[in-house]
Amino acid sequence: MTLRTYPRFITLEGGEGAGKSTVLSALREVLHETGREVVSTREPGGTPLAEQIRGLLLDTHHETPTIDTELLLMFAARAQHVRETILPALERGAWVISDRFTDASYAYQGAARAGDPVFIAELERRVVGIAPALTLLLDVPVDIGLQRARGRGAADRIEGERDDFFERVREGYLARAASEPARFRVVDATQSPQSVAADAVAHVRRLIGESS
Ligand SMILES: Nc1ncnc2c1ncn2[C@@H]1O[C@H](COP(=O)(O)OP(=O)(O)OP(=O)(O)O)[C@@H](O)[C@H]1O
Ligand SMILES: [Mg+2]
Repeated sequence: MTLRTYPRFITLEGGEGAGKSTVLSALREVLHETGREVVSTREPGGTPLAEQIRGLLLDTHHETPTIDTELLLMFAARAQHVRETILPALERGAWVISDRFTDASYAYQGAARAGDPVFIAELERRVVGIAPALTLLLDVPVDIGLQRARGRGAADRIEGERDDFFERVREGYLARAASEPARFRVVDATQSPQSVAADAVAHVRRLIGESS
């Protein structure tokens, strides 16, 4: 791998409604309490331009993007996010937590939409170039996650996919976690929000211990 791993870079992954945004606030607080600067961000998005690309990706009103269009827009947004938000923060010593990152492209555009993982890896090397030290995969059965997410209102373009799409997302994430056990920690996200947060915090405290 030619990716550079940053010890203060953490990503959260998981399907719809797994609890990523909920865990992110808990992790933010813990890092903050210990006096560390923490930048929390999300994908697709994380800069004004990348947030506009997010709008294009999630909009249900225009024609359906082809798989290549979806993949390239994701990486266009990610390239901007890495250069403008993530790297400047890491370079000044801040901790960065991102709600989704490149693993999401392997799960959604790769596993779920049958995009070519070799092409995804090439894009990752050429336009991303960095990797987190820790990725927390919040794993939850599809029906439970969708029930949580759909409780929130109108579905965006991705949330409107069929259940088998989300089964492939889940399997894609679990396969990636199994292939990179040193970076991934799988958290049982069927637990209460408090227990999920406690597991996530424990993993992050270990990382803090290792890196300071
Ligand atoms: N462990 C949990 N148990 C039950 N409900 C939860 C749990 N974690 C989060 N929720 C609730 O489920 C909904 C989805 O959670 P959250 O927004 O954190 O998920 P997410 O992974 O960020 O979803 P999305 O992929 O749609 O952004 C929220 O209403 C949240 O309050
Ligand atoms: Mg969320």
